Amino acid sequence: MGQTGIAVVGAGYWGPNLVRNFTADEGCTVRWVCDLDTERAARLAGRFGVERVTSNLDDVLGDSDVSGVAIATPVGTHSAIAAACFDAGKDVLVEKPLADSLDAGRTLVEHAQSVGAILMIDHTFCYTSSVRRIQEIVRSGDLGFVQYYDSVRINLGLVQADVDVMWDLSPHDLSIIDFIMPDDVVPVSVSAVGSDPIGVGHACVAYLTVHLSNGAIAHMHLNWLSPVKVRSVMIGGSDRMLVWDDIKPAQRLSIYDAGADLGDMSEPSRREALVAYRIGDMVAPALPEVEALTRVAAEFRNSIETREGPETDGWSGLRVLAVLDAAQRSLNEGGASVAVPAIEAGT
Ligand SMILES: NC(=O)c1ccc[n+]([C@@H]2O[C@H](COP(=O)([O-])OP(=O)(O)OC[C@H]3O[C@@H](n4cnc5c(N)ncnc54)[C@H](O)[C@@H]3O)[C@@H](O)[C@H]2O)c1
Repeated sequence: MGQTGIAVVGAGYWGPNLVRNFTADEGCTVRWVCDLDTERAARLAGRFGVERVTSNLDDVLGDSDVSGVAIATPVGTHSAIAAACFDAGKDVLVEKPLADSLDAGRTLVEHAQSVGAILMIDHTFCYTSSVRRIQEIVRSGDLGFVQYYDSVRINLGLVQADVDVMWDLSPHDLSIIDFIMPDDVVPVSVSAVGSDPIGVGHACVAYLTVHLSNGAIAHMHLNWLSPVKVRSVMIGGSDRMLVWDDIKPAQRLSIYDAGADLGDMSEPSRREALVAYRIGDMVAPALPEVEALTRVAAEFRNSIETREGPETDGWSGLRVLAVLDAAQRSLNEGGASVAVPAIEAGT
């Protein structure tokens, strides 16, 4: 049993993964599972030997042995639960996306700052071995100039009641882009279109295009109605290109020594002939198989103990929300290009 007391709020689809990983972390003890549905909370607690179950958040907040609260409830409830935790002196790990609007997210970040609390966002993919390696490759300049980021995140199912497919799935790509790109490369504008072919009341299929400040383009294809599951990201650079296929464990990451260069353009009529294509070797790096949430749990515990900010802090959550907020306006306006406001950390 570890020293750092954790409570998990939300015992639905994702909460069990948090309970499992915090239970496995030797520095942590999961003291509570809290859910409005007490039977669900009790079933989850029973699976992992958690002693206390409640439907009342005040029980968690009143336990002085709880240092950190992990929140895995629907997006619209994140703000109120996290704010109550800060008021009770608890640190918070909140599921993506941080909140249901940019304003609500900003309020939470400021609240955490004013009381000196840790606010970490579970941008899970940033803790995968693949994305950590991609960050090294991109930031070291191995790809050359990054030209595009192209993601397909589609499968059948898990249509959410409270958020559309864009709010559900694009935080993964937006947080990955935020994590891998150099700090001075930020989203500047976004356009989004979506459709609701089965009439659930919000988009189940969406396409987002984000322009980055270095001139690169990022595109996200998000779909809850696809017959097949695809989780693939392609990043094109001027020197190399990479493909990350997250459902191919034997070879998640492939780095291609391939590209296209334009030669002398003084003869526009010979344009095609002047594009030189390069197709070299492909390398598939060996990556440690570590569950991302194992690292998330360890990072949150470390932040609680050392008071050092986590890698995916409130500001990263806010940068993701800034794009989502602009994308929502674009979606409402039929795909118009909408500027993404700059988020200055620490202000
Ligand atoms: N990081 C990831 O890869 C990932 C994956 C899936 C979901 N999520 C996120 O996790 C969160 C939860 O998603 P889910 O799919 O588990 O939802 P879910 O609907 O399956 O579960 C939510 C649970 O929260 C409980 N709940 C609702 N309001 C509550 C409250 N005020 N207090 C206590 N319990 C309350 C519900 O009873 C339910 O059991 C969302 O923010 C979602 O975006 C993250």
